[in-house]
Amino acid sequence: MALIRSLPELLVNQIAAGEVVERPASALKELLENSLDAGARSIAVDLVEGGVRRLRVADDGGGIEPGDLPLAVARFATSKIATLEDLERAATLGFRGEALASIGAVARLSIVSRRAGERHAWRIACEAGAVSAPEPAALAEGTTVEVEDLYFNTPARRKFLKSEATEFARCDEAYARIALSRPAVAFSLTHNGRRSSHLPPEDLRRRTARVVGEDFAAAALEVRSESPRLRLEGLVAAPGFTRATREAQFLFVNGRFVRDKVAAHAIREAYADVLHHDRHPAYVLFLEIDPALVDVNVHPAKSEVRFRESNAVHQFVFHALSRALAAPLEENGVRPRFPGEESAPASSGNRGLTPFSFQASLAVAQPSAAYATLFAAAVADERRLEATAPDAPPALGYALAQVHGVYILAQNAAGLVIVDMHAAHERIVYEGLKEALDAAALPSQPLLVPIAMAATAEEVEAAAAGRAELESLGFDVAAGGPRELVIRAVPSLLADLDGAGLLRSVLAEMREYGASRVLVERRNDLLATLACHGAVRANRNLTVPEMNALLRQMEATERAGSCNHGRPTWVQFAMADLDRLFLRGR
Ligand SMILES: Nc1ncnc2c1ncn2[C@@H]1O[C@H](COP(=O)(O)OP(=O)(O)OP(=O)(O)O)[C@@H](O)[C@H]1O
Ligand SMILES: [Mg+2]
Repeated sequence: MALIRSLPELLVNQIAAGEVVERPASALKELLENSLDAGARSIAVDLVEGGVRRLRVADDGGGIEPGDLPLAVARFATSKIATLEDLERAATLGFRGEALASIGAVARLSIVSRRAGERHAWRIACEAGAVSAPEPAALAEGTTVEVEDLYFNTPARRKFLKSEATEFARCDEAYARIALSRPAVAFSLTHNGRRSSHLPPEDLRRRTARVVGEDFAAAALEVRSESPRLRLEGLVAAPGFTRATREAQFLFVNGRFVRDKVAAHAIREAYADVLHHDRHPAYVLFLEIDPALVDVNVHPAKSEVRFRESNAVHQFVFHALSRALAAPLEENGVRPRFPGEESAPASSGNRGLTPFSFQASLAVAQPSAAYATLFAAAVADERRLEATAPDAPPALGYALAQVHGVYILAQNAAGLVIVDMHAAHERIVYEGLKEALDAAALPSQPLLVPIAMAATAEEVEAAAAGRAELESLGFDVAAGGPRELVIRAVPSLLADLDGAGLLRSVLAEMREYGASRVLVERRNDLLATLACHGAVRANRNLTVPEMNALLRQMEATERAGSCNHGRPTWVQFAMADLDRLFLRGR
């Protein structure tokens, strides 16, 4: 074994650089974070050849004292923390004091900086770790950091760089994250002399529109929740505007972009009820938390955090989002898209969402006798309402007609509403079932004439094993023989449906997952299946009072803007939309 010796400082910095500046995009991220920490209001980024040839960040922040310039590029020298207590409550993006030293070890680095009140700027250069003496230079107040020829002295590393286009795309991504995190700060980006983004100071929704896409920003729901120690704010996709990839997911913890499993899981759970399984939510969310309750010093690139109380964070995020997604109809509604409107105006590398493509065909029509009674009470209510309080116009307006037994046309204050009958009713039944089961058990309705149903031996066994669970769902089932089940009562919310068919689908779930798991972990899936059975089918003619009853139920139901699979249940054509279709007023 060779003797142990201390490594030379340059080599130490080069080793550190392996983690901190993996590629041009990570160097860019470090420089942008330094500018924000310095209080910049405006930041300009210039890249040449994907940032490998040159990467320059110019800010108008507080600048660096001339005497401090050599320290800025020294390892473990920082102005941001001084003690362990500072580290444990660091509110700045940087605190390790190693980013510039690492960059300086693997590139040609220069810093020009001028503080307020200084007569001129000072410049310092650092090449492969060798630092020059500060010399006078010209610059307005602020700091410009330039990184040239990244990895010029570490050829092995250089080989790992991808094509210019790929490295630029990574830089653009890093830029987008930082730009999203501070909508009030102006940003610009050029690549090989061509401007690729220009962002004026603006509010979050406008910044999101430019960076993530117009579609997302226009249809996004606002989240705002606060507890004594946590705050969550931002924009999340309405269920109809989700995407096929995870790309448009931005979570900032105390202003820092992070990937965090706890929060991501909570978000996913909140969407579980309104999202098709192969779609992904899009979001731009800001979680603010007492810095003492989160550890950001987990990873050299600071892309992960550790929460002291991760359960509390999970709960908080889940509830905040669930509330936003259950927002009233007006906020959840989906606007139709017109030809030509599909592609959002392209800003810098538009990460736009594809608007939900409306599903043309619904589930195959099935006979359902059920439905009249499902609605009977609501129709009566609706008649009473019409007679007494006509003043406040309902959000979804009044039904005009039905189209091919599939859609309801209604007129409301804004214009024309089109409702997908089956999807809407499915949501209503589903939420009704959930509420009833949350309250206690599903109410049960005894059958005048019990149904004898031919069953397999497995079904008979599953019914016996899951008797208690079946009861809480509202079923009373007994074995009538080795291959027969007798249904004596059914869930009263679904009383008029084909009881044997319902029971069969419940038993199938119970056999696959076990009775108790079905009611706990898979509860919502099971209720969704029941709701689908219970919902009015397409190709069923409704009377106008029945249609109005459905509209009123939608207004009273949480998450009525989308069905259980995340498809929209209704769209609004505003008068202006209709006018555009007919080129009126042009
Ligand atoms: N754009 C800038 N404007 C003003 N001061 C800066 C700027 N960039 C760097 N500095 C100063 O240089 C110091 C060193 O920067 P560096 O990025 O190496 O470390 P850090 O930001 O303190 O910590 P980290 O390594 O976590 O980023 C900073 O603490 C800061 O005082
Ligand atoms: Mg830094």
